[in-house]
Amino acid sequence: MRSWLVVGLVGIAIGLPIIVFADQAGSDYLGASSCKKCHPTAFAIWEKSAHQRAHVALPEDRRNDTRCIQCHGSSANLNGGVQCESCHGTGKHYAKRYVMKDKELARIVGLVDVTEKTCRRCHTGSTPSIQPFEWKRLWLLVFHGLEKAKPEPATK
Ligand code: HEC
Ligand code: HEC
Ligand code: HEC
Ligand code: HEC
Repeated sequence: MRSWLVVGLVGIAIGLPIIVFADQAGSDYLGASSCKKCHPTAFAIWEKSAHQRAHVALPEDRRNDTRCIQCHGSSANLNGGVQCESCHGTGKHYAKRYVMKDKELARIVGLVDVTEKTCRRCHTGSTPSIQPFEWKRLWLLVFHGLEKAKPEPATK
């Protein structure tokens, strides 16, 4: 019983970075410019963010290093480092108007509800930061849903 638990935990420890990386490298990944045509406001805000530049924050000799680009993104990504799809999920199956309008269907085919957990995949205790990761404050810094009033962030 216990050994399975250990195998499971090791699996999670090894598997997680690969899954995060696959987010961006997989063929289901479209790139921010494909979201831009329907979400120009969100794109314009994101384009000015630290996330868009996260790949160029890496020293030049690290820009293809898988240990870094799993969080920072690589220059192989169209338009930027931490992409729309790094948070919202890969878009191949949901990025169509009729799917996006159907909240339930969109989620079945890959749209992710972004919560604190999504951020903590990359904003871990060991990432360099002057201040600790505070969800409420930082969430508002990356907020780009201008169409609605800023809601309370989900903490789970
Ligand atoms: C062909 C147009 C189109 C494309 C391309 C598109 N979207 Fe959408 N998106 C929509 C529409 C329409 C809605 C529904 C909201 C509305 O009616 O304003 C929506 C809603 C959303 C929502 C809110 C969904 C919800 O149910 O809470 C998110 C998040 C989103 N889109 C992200 C993305 C991302 C990320 C991409 C790129 C991978 C993308 N969209 C590409 C048209 C599009
Ligand atoms: C688990 C995800 C993760 C990995 C892996 C990672 N980083 Fe980061 N890195 C971050 C996050 C998140 C920040 C931003 C922290 C903040 O400002 O709150 C950051 C910030 C940085 C910064 C500061 C950027 C700036 O503009 O101030 C540098 C430089 C950096 N990382 C280099 C690297 C290098 C080099 C590697 C690979 C050896 C690496 N990182 C791997 C998540 C990661
Ligand atoms: C750092 C993570 C992150 C990135 C990168 C990101 N988003 Fe979001 N997005 C969020 C969060 C958090 C919300 C608000 C909570 C929610 O609706 O899930 C949100 C909400 C949205 C919404 C819904 C707005 C509304 O009024 O309901 C759309 C549309 C959207 N994002 C599109 C995009 C597009 C397009 C990009 C890339 C240009 C992008 N996002 C990049 C985290 C992100
Ligand atoms: C795929 C990895 C990844 C995800 C997911 C992610 N981030 Fe980041 N984030 C980074 C990296 C890497 C940086 C550093 C970029 C730089 O400094 O150049 C960063 C920088 C930031 C910054 C600017 C630095 C600062 O301390 O002011 C904010 C704010 C931020 N992230 C908030 C969020 C929030 C909120 C979420 C979740 C909704 C989120 N991030 C999800 C990787 C990620």
